Amino acid sequence: MKAPLTHYLQFTDFSAEDYAYLFDRARIIKQRFKNYEKYQPLADRTLALIFEKASTRTRVSFETGMYQMGGSVVHLTSGDSQFGRDEPFEDSARVISRMVDLVMIRTFEQTKLQAFAAHSRVPVINGLTNEYHPCQIMADLFTWLEHRAPLGLRGHDLGALRGKTVAWVGDGNNMATTWLQAADLLGFTLHVSSPVGYEVNPALAGLKNADCYRLFADPRDACRGAHLVTTDVWTSMGYEAENAARRDAFANWRVDAAMMALAAPDALFMHCLPAHRGEEVTAEVIDGPQSVVWDEAENRMHVQKALMEFLLLGRIGA
Ligand code: CP
Ligand code: NVA
Repeated sequence: MKAPLTHYLQFTDFSAEDYAYLFDRARIIKQRFKNYEKYQPLADRTLALIFEKASTRTRVSFETGMYQMGGSVVHLTSGDSQFGRDEPFEDSARVISRMVDLVMIRTFEQTKLQAFAAHSRVPVINGLTNEYHPCQIMADLFTWLEHRAPLGLRGHDLGALRGKTVAWVGDGNNMATTWLQAADLLGFTLHVSSPVGYEVNPALAGLKNADCYRLFADPRDACRGAHLVTTDVWTSMGYEAENAARRDAFANWRVDAAMMALAAPDALFMHCLPAHRGEEVTAEVIDGPQSVVWDEAENRMHVQKALMEFLLLGRIGA
């Protein structure tokens, strides 16, 4: 079985119907894992993991996921490969994609990922760029559905997200842009509040429906009535030189119990992690009853197993 060559470079590469399929597969694959059932459709397949930035969750979830599905993994970083010595991404793509079946890349500019994909013979997955983090948003949406959408006969009902509100408090970064894309595609509204100078760039999201988001100067107003409140670090990887300025600018963009109290009574709290308690979120919130951050982290593995199965084998049963 072989799927046509498809890359996953940003959230908009798939349709809402693709996500419905993937979440259904993730649910089945997760249940098998919980039951200790062997499921190894990717035997003899190899995944290359390329990291130009640090990672814990992305590495562990892709690596364990691939092993569980019967395949193997090659792990490369800038420090121990020619990536750190400026071999063109195009040349690396030509070489690596002759030896492996699938590539995941975490890098800086999206253009580098696109250059790799354009010269790759095998599917390429975005494991985070400066602009987007689609695998994380897949896991977050799956987690939201698990917690808030009752399971029908055909699995998760994405319609349950339609009309809902998500509050983004903080940096208009790769996570914020990808949440915008998800709101646009799946029909919920993103309330965004960021300090001046750190706003989200809707042009990067390529929105079809400009009504899918609303901007708020005060983060408390963004949280009002939200069904899900989410945030991220004040300083993303690659922006460390701005650390001091960001600490000042983001001081009022900390999700605390008072902000959560303005959201819907059963609102969830999400954070892609790693988190800095006392900066973008208080310990009371991230360690509190509304927080589902550990489920989000675990679900990275389950949704990415579904993603790898989809990219390599196509639709199961189709
Ligand atoms: N959320 C996330 O991508 O975590 P890592 O940076 O640890 O991979
Ligand atoms: N916005 C963060 C996410 C880390 C998973 C970063 O890019 O560093």
